[in-house]
Amino acid sequence: MPSPIITTIQSHILEQQQQSGEASGTFSWMLSGITLATKMIAAEIRKAGLNDVYGAAGATNVQGEAQQKLDVFANEAMLHCLGMRDSVAALISEENDEPVIFNRSGDKAKYIIVFDPLDGSSNIDVNVNVGTIFSIFRRPDGVSVEDALLQPGTKQVAAGYVVYGPSTVFVYTTGNGVHGFTLDPAIGAYVLSFANMKMPEQGAYYSVNEANYDTFPETYKQYLTELRTGGLGQTYSSRYIGSLVADFHRTLLKGGVFLYPPTVKQPKGKLRLLYEANPLAWIAEQAGGRALSGNGRVLEINPESIHERTSLIVGSRVEVDRLEKLLQ
Ligand code: AHG
Ligand code: MN
Ligand code: MN
Repeated sequence: MPSPIITTIQSHILEQQQQSGEASGTFSWMLSGITLATKMIAAEIRKAGLNDVYGAAGATNVQGEAQQKLDVFANEAMLHCLGMRDSVAALISEENDEPVIFNRSGDKAKYIIVFDPLDGSSNIDVNVNVGTIFSIFRRPDGVSVEDALLQPGTKQVAAGYVVYGPSTVFVYTTGNGVHGFTLDPAIGAYVLSFANMKMPEQGAYYSVNEANYDTFPETYKQYLTELRTGGLGQTYSSRYIGSLVADFHRTLLKGGVFLYPPTVKQPKGKLRLLYEANPLAWIAEQAGGRALSGNGRVLEINPESIHERTSLIVGSRVEVDRLEKLLQ
């Protein structure tokens, strides 16, 4: 029995690099910072319940380290692993009010990485899937880092997420399709498990926090009623995990639509444009799906601030087209 050909994410990124024209080695070295950090986060998440047990001695774990909340740990892991890559000019994290700017001279420091280190943190304590989301921009030559921090999603050079669930799956795009890798804990490597992922044209699920239904704009209520009453030619089931990465990953695999419409509490939507909506919007489009903000394509929004929020409708073409028509 010939041994199975495994493609690790490192070899896959190198291949992609040749195609995407990113500087050889620099790009894959930088992405390896993300895969390393996510392996550290995955390991820590697996221990989460145990930390409580070990940590019972009063907020220090067996190594005597101060007990860290997982989102602090995840943020530290991403900042540490990426900060060491000298191709990184700046990091923007959901957990940091201000960008972390590395004053590295010359043109080597030319990437800006934006990330949500731990998405779905409210689900950690109940042992439900959480994730990490990232998006990478290039600093145009001759442009200062400060002036390169707010770019539209169309300028991303790479985007991806990791969903920490029954298995740890890493999904990314550099503009040549969407590819998924599953972490093999036995060898500590992400191995190719979903090549060229394509989102179904239409799916069987819609995903929305129904508790906000009464404060949705009328058009969204009409849309949800259509989904529930066969308006799109089929029945739907509702799935809402409450971790964006997990709800998105299911939508990518099974099709359907995820939406976080404007609400009275969050009139501009709750999800963050730079490190939640943009990376997932690009992945959706690369897989044949669509992503809107309620008034146009998410990827075309010109951000005004690094933590700005947006409403998000992302999923299969049929479902998103229908809502777009209703919103027009
Ligand atoms: P984060 O944990 O990074 O703050 O993100 C939580 C987000 C997203 O993961 C999820 O889709 C959304 O919050 C759920 O919001 P509601 O609880 O309001 O539905
Ligand atoms: Mn999040
Ligand atoms: Mn988060």
